[in-house]
Amino acid sequence: MLPFASTLFRVAKTGNPIMSDILSHLDNGVLTLRLNRLFKKNALTKAMYTALTEGLAQASEDETVRVVVISAEGDDFCAGNDILDFAQDLPLYQDDGVDHDDMPVFRFLKAIPFFDKPLIAAVQGQAVGVGVTLLLHCDLVVATDDIRLSLPFLKLGLVPEAGSTLLLPERIGHARAFAWMALGEVIGAEDAHKLGLVNSIVPRDGLNDAAQAMAQKLVKLSPSSLRHTKAFMRDPEKLWQVIQAEGAVFRRQLMSPEAQAAFMAFLSK
Ligand code: COA
Repeated sequence: MLPFASTLFRVAKTGNPIMSDILSHLDNGVLTLRLNRLFKKNALTKAMYTALTEGLAQASEDETVRVVVISAEGDDFCAGNDILDFAQDLPLYQDDGVDHDDMPVFRFLKAIPFFDKPLIAAVQGQAVGVGVTLLLHCDLVVATDDIRLSLPFLKLGLVPEAGSTLLLPERIGHARAFAWMALGEVIGAEDAHKLGLVNSIVPRDGLNDAAQAMAQKLVKLSPSSLRHTKAFMRDPEKLWQVIQAEGAVFRRQLMSPEAQAAFMAFLSK
């Protein structure tokens, strides 16, 4: 298979198939899911959440897939949830008749904690919002020396998501987690490494090789040993309960005056 030959396509309004915003590539037991929406800094849309969720489901079922790597094209890893998507989907988020667990974002947020094979992230440049909180679900994170990790949820009138209100204080302690989330701090490579958010820092041109080298070490291990170890280290049911609770408040907060003003300001730029 060609490097990053896409198995997932979306059809443009013109009817022409164009490359997916998520590229997937299977090689030597490693499935790489690569964010590919460069012109929007890899901000995640509904279609991208769906493609990622489907990629993880396929990886789970396919015995030849031993490890998944999430990575990104371009200078930046991910600018968080697409803000236009938030704005367009406000009625759905607010509608009590909608099964919110079945929305693409929540299906993805459920898929990551329940994914039972090793998950590696390769991160460069800016990572914002869910572009950071998804890293807390990864078993290994390799990053470049120029990473800028930010959690602007409170600045946007929202609340942190993806189980980060549980995972982040557990990982780095309450005071540091709170400061990061509430004071709008941006965490760089050195601090991210010291805080245990990333395993290793590499130069930009070595990122993909470093992630693949990590993955190949895991490919050599017993899949069942890895699966059991991961299961002992994480409680996905508990995480999912936290994700749902955060999600219920998040949906209400989308209607807060602060969120509305922040989205209007961003979209009218
Ligand atoms: N949703 C939708 N579009 C986004 C986006 C997002 N989350 N993040 C960036 N973009 C778009 C910008 O609107 C811009 O589009 P345009 O070229 O059509 O105007 C393009 O991506 C490039 O972004 P820009 O802001 O010019 O790049 P930058 O390098 O100056 O800044 C960020 C990068 C990530 C710091 C900045 O884009 C940002 O803060 N984005 C919003 C992050 C956010 O709040 N996410 C939601 C968290 S819940």
